[in-house]
Amino acid sequence: MSLNSSSQRRPLMAANWKMYKTIPQAEAFLKEFLPAVANVNDVDVVLCPAMVALAPVSQLLSGTQVALGAQNMNENEEGAFTGEISGAMLTSVGCKYVIIGHSERRQFFGETDASVNKKILAALKHNLVPIVCVGETLAERDANQTLQVVGRQVRAGLANIPSAETKKLVIAYEPVWAIGTGRTATPAQAQEVHLAIRDILKDQYGSLTSLAIRILYGGSVKPENIAELMACEDIDGGLIGGASLKPDSFGSIVKFRSASTPSASR
Ligand code: PGA
Repeated sequence: MSLNSSSQRRPLMAANWKMYKTIPQAEAFLKEFLPAVANVNDVDVVLCPAMVALAPVSQLLSGTQVALGAQNMNENEEGAFTGEISGAMLTSVGCKYVIIGHSERRQFFGETDASVNKKILAALKHNLVPIVCVGETLAERDANQTLQVVGRQVRAGLANIPSAETKKLVIAYEPVWAIGTGRTATPAQAQEVHLAIRDILKDQYGSLTSLAIRILYGGSVKPENIAELMACEDIDGGLIGGASLKPDSFGSIVKFRSASTPSASR
């Protein structure tokens, strides 16, 4: 696929704060971050704080162009599921997005392609945009199974999505070996998988829809490498962990178009 298609997709930069930042720490971040990105209107920006910080962060984001996301949700409507949080709860606190199937949830909390699929369907039902995470482990990459593993995760994770909802989906390709390791996939490695994902989407939903769906890259994204990743045709944004915890580094990532990145890049 050689169409120059990336221009029709609006870039999306999502901060995944994982289990970092208390409420006061989240508030201190926003005090610096919001003024720094106030003039950015050509990129969608999403903050995904810990559940406990959703409400105060939501208040501080109101009236800004920055959207709120959660890091996980339960697939059930409501019920006796101690410690869980539902789609209705997330929308009631102001969430627009929800990260689904992050590799840490697959690795430490037993999430599978089947549970990821249920969560995606539940998120869409509540009008939340799911940011669906896929990615291979180092052993899988070394065994040349990357495209097979990611293909399976995409096909099984996205089973039975109502066709009216497919354009809304956001996929995040996050090679597990690149998460929190400082070892980013090269732009060529990332582009290869992004293109393979887009080809699967084309197969399942047709060309137009596949060209509308945003595919983010995640795994040691930082101000120094965001521009070269974003220059790849099928990379439409980033899901950022470590580098999203500081207002200046996440701010530079959001402003990747204008940022004069520190010289130590590559
Ligand atoms: P990282 O995390 O940017 O710290 O590698 C990305 C993620 O896990 O979403």
